[in-house]
Amino acid sequence: MKVCIVGASGKLGRYMVQHALDRGYEVVGVCREKSVDKLEAFKDRITVVPGATNDREVIKNAVAGCDGVLTVLAPWGVHQYSSGTARAVLDYAPQDARLVFSCGWHITLDGQDVYSRKFKALVKVFGWVGRLTRFVELSDQIEACRQVFASDTRWTVVRGSDLEEGESQGLPVWSRHVGDPILESNKTRRVDFALFMVEALGNDDLIHEAPAIVGRQTPSALAHSGDAGT
Ligand SMILES: NC(=O)c1ccc[n+]([C@@H]2O[C@H](COP(=O)([O-])OP(=O)(O)OC[C@H]3O[C@@H](n4cnc5c(N)ncnc54)[C@H](OP(=O)(O)O)[C@@H]3O)[C@@H](O)[C@H]2O)c1
Repeated sequence: MKVCIVGASGKLGRYMVQHALDRGYEVVGVCREKSVDKLEAFKDRITVVPGATNDREVIKNAVAGCDGVLTVLAPWGVHQYSSGTARAVLDYAPQDARLVFSCGWHITLDGQDVYSRKFKALVKVFGWVGRLTRFVELSDQIEACRQVFASDTRWTVVRGSDLEEGESQGLPVWSRHVGDPILESNKTRRVDFALFMVEALGNDDLIHEAPAIVGRQTPSALAHSGDAGT
């Protein structure tokens, strides 16, 4: 199994690299040139392709021959970084490859998610401040996912809750819609978000799904496991 990890140098990316290596996968990591040092711990065990993740030539080169592509969709900057990254992966990954993308709960596949007022207010403020400071373009992450949902590739979009660091609690549980009781705790360990992404590569039941995940030891998961796609 050969997998490409797009955004490998970030926190989520590095956990995914470790999980993929633990499974004996051959790993190709893409990250910005200035972040290559962040992958020092994996030197000699992975191939690093330096470059912007929305650079089509960089992605074309990195995903060649891969069975799976794990992509961190981050809404940074105001130059269509997320949608450019998603488009390049969709266009250049081998046709049968499993494609797994990361994002947050604010993305919706079918419009059936139910968000709290607090969540909606936070997304609004974050989007507004991000646009004003030109640091974040939430709407572009939404556009990236729209393109993924519309594609006929073998995709999964994993929607992360609020994240925290800490020891693994095991594979997160998931549900189709934010607002489902099992997700109420709204907390996942980052290492387990990465685990879910890597496990999704081998789970065909998740093709064309956008699972919203939550830590399996959180109170809501413990109270409701068995209710949804757990
Ligand atoms: N943070 C949360 O609470 C949260 C909650 C729910 C879902 N998520 C989702 O989880 C995923 C990972 O999020 P994370 O917060 O854990 O971040 P992360 O893993 O640290 O990843 C951030 C990624 O963005 C890149 N990046 C950072 N600044 C950039 C810039 N100015 N221009 C281009 N690329 C830049 C990083 O690359 P470098 O190594 O080169 O900097 C890295 O690949 C994302 O898909 C996010 O939507 C996050």
